[in-house]
Amino acid sequence: MTAKINDLRDRMIVALDVPTIWDAYRIVSELGDGATFYKIGYRLAFAGGLDLSRQLISEGKKVFLDLKLHDIGNTVTEGVDSLTKLGVTFLTVHAYPQTMRGAVEGRADSDLKLLAVTALTSYDDGDLRDAGYGLAVRDLVRLRAQQARSAGIDGIVCSAAETEIVRDIIGPDMVIVTPGIRPAGSAAGDQKRTLTPGEAVRVGADHLVIGRPIIRAADPRGAAAAIMDEIAAAS
Ligand code: C5P
Repeated sequence: MTAKINDLRDRMIVALDVPTIWDAYRIVSELGDGATFYKIGYRLAFAGGLDLSRQLISEGKKVFLDLKLHDIGNTVTEGVDSLTKLGVTFLTVHAYPQTMRGAVEGRADSDLKLLAVTALTSYDDGDLRDAGYGLAVRDLVRLRAQQARSAGIDGIVCSAAETEIVRDIIGPDMVIVTPGIRPAGSAAGDQKRTLTPGEAVRVGADHLVIGRPIIRAADPRGAAAAIMDEIAAAS
């Protein structure tokens, strides 16, 4: 079964990187039908974001819960089983084989799609050595992408710069979700290797996670519409 989503609008995922659910809801209201898919990370998840997920889903939106789970397999299985009841579309787990197998067992035959994080993009080869690994980032990304595929994971979160390598490994059916997207002319902020929405689609990304270029724009709805146009033109 493919994890791909058919509605073109679902390719753009707006990161609700704000401190409170009221801030988040203001953005959602402002974007209206200009956005269909939202990402909720730690900050909001630990501040009412799970209830907000339920609310958004009841209003017909899709939710990507970015919790990057990692624990012993059994604990991951039980946690993921609980999350299947929320009705979110995507959930992240770290790409450790035991963790991924546990998550796949917990997801069972629900509609939840699991995304694996291969190597955190803030890590370079030196950080991996410090953490006790003997592999370079590139090799770890390749290894874990293969393991994610074998484990039955639905997709990979990776930087736009890694998209082509990952696509070669996982094939066409699994989804690739990429952050680090900047429309031409917008501020990079702390993102280092960015691609424009059009470039990201052309190198094989299925979904683009976009935060500040939309949520901090003077006109968020206009910014989202311009990004959607660029995604549509490149699709
Ligand atoms: O504001 P911006 O568009 O940079 O937001 C990108 C989102 O994607 C943020 O929620 C950030 O935490 C997330 N992310 C990222 N880089 C990764 C993984 C996740 O920027 N490697």
